[in-house]
Amino acid sequence: MMRRFLSRRLIVLNSHEGLRRGISRSAAATATEVENATITPKMPPFDYAPPPYNGPSAADIMKKRLEFLSPSLFCFYKKPLNVVDGKMQYLFDEDGRRYLDAFAGIATVCCGHCHPDVVEAIINQTKRLQHSTVVYLNHAIADFAEALASKMPGDLKVVFFTNSGTEANELAMMMARLYTGSQDIISIRNSYHGNAAGSMGATAQSNWKFNVIQTGVHHALNPDQYRGVFGSDGAKYAKDVQEIIDFGTSGRVGGFISEAIQGVGGIMELAPGYLPAVYKSIRKAGGLCIADEVQSGFARTGSHFWSFEAHGVVPDIVTMAKGIGNGIPIGAVVTTPEIAEVLTRRSYFNTFGGNPVCTAGGLAVLRVLEKERLQENAFVVGSYLKDRLKGLQEKHDIIGDVRGRGMMLGVELVTDRQLKTPAKSEILHVMNQMKEMGVLVGKGGFYGNVFRVTPPLCFTKEDSDFLVDVMDLALSRL
Ligand SMILES: Cc1ncc(COP(=O)(O)O)c(C=O)c1O
Repeated sequence: MMRRFLSRRLIVLNSHEGLRRGISRSAAATATEVENATITPKMPPFDYAPPPYNGPSAADIMKKRLEFLSPSLFCFYKKPLNVVDGKMQYLFDEDGRRYLDAFAGIATVCCGHCHPDVVEAIINQTKRLQHSTVVYLNHAIADFAEALASKMPGDLKVVFFTNSGTEANELAMMMARLYTGSQDIISIRNSYHGNAAGSMGATAQSNWKFNVIQTGVHHALNPDQYRGVFGSDGAKYAKDVQEIIDFGTSGRVGGFISEAIQGVGGIMELAPGYLPAVYKSIRKAGGLCIADEVQSGFARTGSHFWSFEAHGVVPDIVTMAKGIGNGIPIGAVVTTPEIAEVLTRRSYFNTFGGNPVCTAGGLAVLRVLEKERLQENAFVVGSYLKDRLKGLQEKHDIIGDVRGRGMMLGVELVTDRQLKTPAKSEILHVMNQMKEMGVLVGKGGFYGNVFRVTPPLCFTKEDSDFLVDVMDLALSRL
């Protein structure tokens, strides 16, 4: 009786919040919702209300999208969400309803949606100069390059700007091939590196690989600590790379590319000991080691600024995108002066790469990370969230694995813990339920059965509690 009363009160309170913002009672909470309610976890308070939305409805947008956009586009959720506003770790739909964003536009919004410092930097730069290209001087590109280089270990201090992660990986692999004079690249199964010719070749999941020519890449065993044949023994998986070099190439290779935590592949951190052994084999075969930090870099893992650092290696080339712009389209490749020299053999040019608006925004993102100590927050809150998710695993058999670091966490759902049978339909149901309760998480893994929890790094402990309570309730209802 008390539970029922409390739940009614929660729904009514939520409806009042909606009414204050000028939302109709029917949009804020319907009678049926009140009737069907059980105790729903309460989202932490947040002192921001977006302006009223007067734009097209979700249905109108969907109609246009179906007619004028690529048929390959897909949406999360049975009833796709029309996101019209964002503020820090929250998103708002067309009715002003608030959602806790634990996906961050695919691990991209690192310091929070529309962070005021980033918005200000973008606006100020846009008012002065939007675009000029690198054939003229401008301070924005040089300032961001200097700041990025200061975050890198060793001699990694030459920066090339691109517009995306795909482009960054294309450029990195081309430089490795040019520098070494060898074409063979080794990547890891289950990885994702992009969708242009070279990077799709490095990507190693059939559902992301189109049936077009992708040459020169060998895919090594995935040092997958959950499903892999050698468990967490990184050195054993590393032998496969040596065997590829010995039996699949001339003995000389162009390089090796990997994420330290596979993102699209379902938040899978490579087994410990793997990267140091592989880097040794690759370098012995004359190759360069490329770290793809597109998803896992830029403070997200909390313990380190770059995810490769947790493995005690220093790459020859590092690629990045996503978080470095907090949503601005920008990517980068950072390498040593010696390797960078290879691009002087021909003309290399990228019209938008290093654009003043993007680089001014990127610099503001880096400053916010430092000012608000977001790497530390990713570590502290991320560890807390992981512990709470581990607790949930003890309660729900369907959770086969909880993994990751900082604010890059994965929750793998299986219908049988022994067989590790992917819970493909269950995850969709839980994800939908979580959205209905106001929490957005991502989904990935080869079988599509892993929750990807990659929130903005300003996520709080209260947000974590809310997320876990909502996931708990959704799983209980399965
Ligand atoms: C690890 C990794 N590398 C590269 C890419 C490609 O980046 P983009 O989509 O910006 O081209 C992604 C995208 O998800 C990624 O996760």
